[in-house]
Amino acid sequence: MATDRDAPHPETMAAQGLGRVTETFREIVPPIHTSTTYERAEDGTYPGGRVYSRADNPSYDQAEQLIARLENAKAAMLFSSGQAASGAVFNALMPGDAALVPRNMYWAFRKWLLEFAKPRGLAIDLYENTSLDDLASKARALKPRVIWIETPANPTWDITDIAAAAQIARETGATLAVDSTVATPLLTRPLDLGADIVMHSATKYLNGHSDVIAGVLATAADDERWQKIRYVRGAGGAVLGPFEAWLLLRGMRTLHLRVARACENAMAIAKHFELHPAFSHVLYPGLALHPGHAVASRQMSGGYGGMMSVRLRGGEQAAKDFAARLRVFKRATSLGSVESLAEHRASVEGPGTLCPADLVRLSIGVEHVGDLIADIEQALG
Ligand SMILES: Cc1ncc(COP(=O)(O)O)c(C=O)c1O
Repeated sequence: MATDRDAPHPETMAAQGLGRVTETFREIVPPIHTSTTYERAEDGTYPGGRVYSRADNPSYDQAEQLIARLENAKAAMLFSSGQAASGAVFNALMPGDAALVPRNMYWAFRKWLLEFAKPRGLAIDLYENTSLDDLASKARALKPRVIWIETPANPTWDITDIAAAAQIARETGATLAVDSTVATPLLTRPLDLGADIVMHSATKYLNGHSDVIAGVLATAADDERWQKIRYVRGAGGAVLGPFEAWLLLRGMRTLHLRVARACENAMAIAKHFELHPAFSHVLYPGLALHPGHAVASRQMSGGYGGMMSVRLRGGEQAAKDFAARLRVFKRATSLGSVESLAEHRASVEGPGTLCPADLVRLSIGVEHVGDLIADIEQALG
């Protein structure tokens, strides 16, 4: 029977970076492996099990294994960015293959799918995030190879029911891949809910300090699909540097503390401003008024994440003025770091954005919540 000793809690695995020490010096923190190439034995074999660092690097091992353990996955694979990790799932398909992706999702990946992958032969179609019926009917009609979901989804934090989407994927023979960046492996485990692949922009919560661009995929099965994706990484060359992999493992050692504090701060801020007259909407899945609240409560545990958006009753200019007056929040793109960030999202996304012009996206960090609330109050004037 499994005991706590065999299966430590996620917090323990994260804090200890899996708790491995090296044989040689018994150091608590793993070394950084900078070698690009590995020696062959006289008989031509590779006794170290590695050949060349575009295929793999020992500095990935601990970070990949920690993410796999946190996601309850068979394996995980690091990439040079979240975009590269997401793209690898689609680059493993063949021209003519169909894929269903949500209308509302991380805009740069949606743009890549529609403006790069689609013209090169993938039949990309969109479904409405908030309608499982739309997903089901399009999946039945198109028989996609991949169904992509993002939950909570940028920048309105729409929630998709992962277990229900997994059922649709199974019925129609699709791979279900989930961008779970905002939920982190601590709040939601998509593979346990029936998904096949989970993606994180590790740039965000996993690393958590705004100093590494990285991505990761984790898989429920080490199968042919996974080996194709491994080929895409190695042959395409979208590999992470060993120093970045080391920094990522270092960042993940405090993942549980950072995520818990971000969730706590975000909930307090959302509740504080929920009925504020300057805001037409406070979009946070933890609020009962959020349309995805019931599903989020089922598939997220330990919190609703650190991401929220506010919509200003005064419209676009009021949103820009609000962002301009913030002092504690930094005006910058990205999310999931220890410092709180704010951005007028539509102007970052540019022409063709689906983001409402009156929306400001807030990534809530781990600062004192009183300072964050006071900052929002003073910015509202
Ligand atoms: C939800 C989500 N997915 C994917 C990405 C892409 O990740 P990266 O910037 O690491 O390429 C981002 C980046 O902002 C994101 O917010």
